[in-house]
Amino acid sequence: MMTSLSARAEVLEVPRFSGPEVMTDVFEAIYRRRAVRNYSNEPVSRAEIEGVLEAAIMAPSAINAQPWAFVVLQGHEELARYAREGRDLLTNTAGDGTPLTGSNELLQMVSAPNFELFHGAPAVIIIYATNANAVAECFLAAQNLMLAAWAMGLGTCPIGLARSLFEQEPVKVELKIPPSWSHALAIAVGHPSGETAPTPRRAALVVTWR
Ligand SMILES: Cc1cc2nc3c(=O)[nH]c(=O)nc-3n(C[C@H](O)[C@H](O)[C@H](O)COP(=O)(O)O)c2cc1C
Repeated sequence: MMTSLSARAEVLEVPRFSGPEVMTDVFEAIYRRRAVRNYSNEPVSRAEIEGVLEAAIMAPSAINAQPWAFVVLQGHEELARYAREGRDLLTNTAGDGTPLTGSNELLQMVSAPNFELFHGAPAVIIIYATNANAVAECFLAAQNLMLAAWAMGLGTCPIGLARSLFEQEPVKVELKIPPSWSHALAIAVGHPSGETAPTPRRAALVVTWR
């Protein structure tokens, strides 16, 4: 069943999630968000999921089409099953359909006994584009979601390796996704366990500036 989070006015003016722990400095969120790969067992609450979805839908989109739709998975057994299915797919093909034989590092990683596609996160949010050209907008929504999650004390990790899994027709049928919708990105969500070290960045490559 498709649900709409809440009836609301067309124009959103009030932050949707405003718990006491919310960090509102956007630079803090941009600089401190990490791809989190260790999660505690603490479940993600409904209010937290609603909070990150409300932030996601504030993303810009061409002609304000808002061409995104979300699947929220929190069932432990279902997530474990999808993680296994995704891993089985990956040992044959990479997330974008490229044969894994070309990438020994990736093959080694996904073949490791402790590899878990969603890093054991208690929730996974999958974003689908409701028209074929809208995957870019969904990535904007994904970044909003991840920054908002960080501000709420949650960890996230984009799971590009789940692409082949969530693009499969039988899986889309299971998730009630119409065939014409395109998979954009799955995002693991949960309460971080321990600290995640920052990753380095190269300086911005500015090719032309005049
Ligand atoms: C489109 C996309 C796909 C990604 N896929 C995966 C993935 O399948 N598994 C994973 O553990 N991390 C994945 N990541 C996370 C990146 O590895 C991570 O963002 C990058 O190393 C930089 O680290 P940071 O996010 O902590 O700054 C993905 C990131 C993006 C943007």
